[in-house]
Amino acid sequence: MTQDIEIPKISQKHLLGIKYLSIDDINKILELAIFFKIKNKEKNKNYPILTGRTIINLFFEPSTRTLISFEIAAKRLGADVINMNIEGSSLRKGETLSDTAHTIGAMSPDLIVIRHSEDNSAEEISKLLECPVINAGEGINEHPTQALLDAFTILDHKKTLKDLIVSICGDLEHSRVARSNYYLLTKMGSKVRFVYPKYFEPKDLQKYKVETFNNLIEGIMGSDIVMMLRIQNERIMDTELPSANDYFLEYGLTAEKLENAKSNALVMHPGPINRDVEIESSLADDVNKSVINEQVENGVAVRMACLAILMK
Ligand code: CP
Repeated sequence: MTQDIEIPKISQKHLLGIKYLSIDDINKILELAIFFKIKNKEKNKNYPILTGRTIINLFFEPSTRTLISFEIAAKRLGADVINMNIEGSSLRKGETLSDTAHTIGAMSPDLIVIRHSEDNSAEEISKLLECPVINAGEGINEHPTQALLDAFTILDHKKTLKDLIVSICGDLEHSRVARSNYYLLTKMGSKVRFVYPKYFEPKDLQKYKVETFNNLIEGIMGSDIVMMLRIQNERIMDTELPSANDYFLEYGLTAEKLENAKSNALVMHPGPINRDVEIESSLADDVNKSVINEQVENGVAVRMACLAILMK
């Protein structure tokens, strides 16, 4: 039986990006997530502090992990949750995003979770609504709850987020996961490396204080964390990509290449993974090295913490 816990306050009304959070905010979210992770192991996983409150999930892009974990998180906290069916909505009749936001706002939701292909769409929506808004991944900008659950997973294994070498590898150009992880891990005192083939060089590279590598083995040498990224095919317009097999040979992480990282290095991937393209299938499933499933599990606890704090 878990004891009650005080829900902390953070400096932000919304969760739009890690760049807006203080170190104290991040620590408060991660500490509360520990409580929910323990609660999630009990037979009765419910902690109904949001009874009578309404959360709307507004996902304009496909999702499995983020959408389902937000829904589970909301339900375990006792909230009513609505997953808006975008295909069946009036957006398909030409209603604009801002009119949709006003329409939803008129029904008095208590929190909106949004995923969208456009950068800054969560911020735009937040200006039109009175309730808190959580960015569940927008464009190539940020995916803050992914970085929080990644940090939670790292902390679980390494007991610190300071002085780690974290190699983020692959499609850096299109990755909101990489950007949110960069902001979080550098704020907490770790060293981030961007490791990418030249055709995936981020256009905004000058914004980030990182070491860069174009060779995977050099980029993961001595790393504590090797975070592989999905190739974001849906955002790639004009880049001539190598075949999946050629990409795997040059940029896919294998158990053999991983030997260049620290012997206790964690292998991470936000999912969904392209097996034997970004990562060797057997390595992705090797629970002694890969924490990919733990990342998914921790997503529920971290999102419970975010909902509880923002709806306090
Ligand atoms: N990592 C992540 O955002 O996965 P989904 O697209 O399945 O939500």
